[in-house]
Amino acid sequence: MIPQSFIQDLLGRVDIVDVIERHLTLKKGGANYFACCPFHGEKTPSFSISPSKQFYHCFGCGVHGNAIGFLMEYSGLSFVEAVTELARQVGVEVPQEANPSGRFAPPPAEQDALIDAMATAARFYREQLRHSPVAIDYLTRRGLTGEIAARFGIGYAPDDWQGLHKVFPAYDARPLLEAGLVIENEAGRRYDRFRDRIMFPIQDRRGRIIAFGGRVLDKGEPKYLNSPETPLFEKGRELYGLIQAQKPIRDAGYVLVVEGYMDVVSLAQFGVCNAVATLGTATTPHHIKALLRHTDRIVFCFDGDAAGRKAAWRALESSLEALRDDITLAFLFLPEQHDPDSFVRSEGADALERAAREAKPLAGFLIDALSAELDLGSAEGRSRLVHDARPLVTQVAAPLLRLQLVKQIGELSGLSQREVEEAFGTHTSTRRHDKRWDGDGDHAAHPARHTPQPSRSARSRRAPIPAAGTLLRLVLQHPAWIARLPIALIPLDSDEGRSLAALVDAMEVGDIDPDCGLGALVERYRDTPHADTIARAAADLVGTDYDETVIETLFEDTVKKLHADMINREILSLAQQEREHGLSSADRHRLAELLLEKRNLTDKPQD
Ligand code: CTP
Ligand code: MN
Repeated sequence: MIPQSFIQDLLGRVDIVDVIERHLTLKKGGANYFACCPFHGEKTPSFSISPSKQFYHCFGCGVHGNAIGFLMEYSGLSFVEAVTELARQVGVEVPQEANPSGRFAPPPAEQDALIDAMATAARFYREQLRHSPVAIDYLTRRGLTGEIAARFGIGYAPDDWQGLHKVFPAYDARPLLEAGLVIENEAGRRYDRFRDRIMFPIQDRRGRIIAFGGRVLDKGEPKYLNSPETPLFEKGRELYGLIQAQKPIRDAGYVLVVEGYMDVVSLAQFGVCNAVATLGTATTPHHIKALLRHTDRIVFCFDGDAAGRKAAWRALESSLEALRDDITLAFLFLPEQHDPDSFVRSEGADALERAAREAKPLAGFLIDALSAELDLGSAEGRSRLVHDARPLVTQVAAPLLRLQLVKQIGELSGLSQREVEEAFGTHTSTRRHDKRWDGDGDHAAHPARHTPQPSRSARSRRAPIPAAGTLLRLVLQHPAWIARLPIALIPLDSDEGRSLAALVDAMEVGDIDPDCGLGALVERYRDTPHADTIARAAADLVGTDYDETVIETLFEDTVKKLHADMINREILSLAQQEREHGLSSADRHRLAELLLEKRNLTDKPQD
């Protein structure tokens, strides 16, 4: 757990403009900066960043957030990773409170030592490659240029039992063993894990090297040797090449998932840069989830042989729970005897991209694969189809796609939709389809990206913002004014009213620093019921904030209006009571008071 006080302080130190400028080209326009929105395709910039509010908002697609939110959305970092990255940028250390999730995480100092060791080793391997004509010759024969090798940090581990000794004078230090760079035999003697191999560094989402894959030159066993699982490296979570592919994935609008290191590198050599590889494992739900942060179309590219089909099927199984109706997963099967590397070399990048566009969508692949071996002309075959489909289709989290699958299975099996649902045991189900898939419960899910909110102008055309909404925006522009709100006046019948009340409560107990800035204020409400309402109101203020010369009057008028609304409500209810049952003398007294208050409110000259 990172203490909230630290996060608040951190957001006070970073400048969201610097953070975003590392990734996007910004143009100044008035008080704000503008860029083409990285979250939806556009030619004219509607992505707006407010330095004074420390908040961004896209008027095109509605995404919004603070510096932490930007890194989570753009770089696909988890909440903790985003905070850590910001802290690194301003040179402060992230303090740790006890970690309640219990997930293993080495203390930061220990982790840093491992990261340092990996970086040193990678530098050594790259340097060695420059001095090894044999290794250079191998890469050249495989068609790689020096530029691509450099882009992926490819190196060479020399044919030497203790090669790393040269760059690690303390060859017996713990981090070398922990990072999996050396192996210790029973006699306690250490030697390099990787010898005489082409080295592919594996980077995490922040670009740190966390593991290596090493390939023999030409023939030899095992062909690939990988780092073991270490405190830095969990195979099923990482994707090779993701850091290099991030931008190309956004540009292309899809990601190509392949199986091998060489496939990724070789595709990049041919200009297909939006490819990543799993690391000698089947595709896992973690992979899918990580990729969906970058794109809504995943194309799995597998060899055309039996092994490729098997791998595709496992990828399908891993994906079912992650499906949504606004994403596409598709399967591209290469001709037998080809892998992506050989295919792009013999057929070219255009042919590969065309094939990726025409890849078979998941539902089609599922139905085809299930019915391939069956005789749908027989009752047995048709029953078997429903039987086999059940455990798969019931996992599909996308309600519309699920419905399509049920219908299609109905058609193929000669059953009605209802009969199929009955066979699946789901016909009366009130199962929630809208449950967000969030495998490990971290802070990754960000509704804004996939459910764009209407822009302020679109909304205000439909209905005027009610008083509570106006007040919420006003106090977000001037957080110090939260202290001026009379809590008794705030109507709790809307999200905005309830969020406003939460702000007043927090201010009263000293939880809000009136000078904290909007980005930090919004951060405080992450993962609370008020998160969306407050963030959306904050987004509205980016570029369309209230004119400072009228804001004071607007604030007072709106408070007055709330007051009048409250008085009116009470007057109406007392009047109704009088008609129905008559009033007690106390009620009659109250009514007179209210009528007087109402007159005072409306008669008072505006100043
Ligand atoms: N792999 C592995 N261990 C092995 C073989 C394969 O971890 N002994 C993983 C590697 O991640 C490898 C991927 O599986 O990149 C695909 O293996 P393969 O198709 O055999 O290798 P290619 O990537 O095609 O490599 P190359 O073209 O160099 O033979
Ligand atoms: Mn290959």
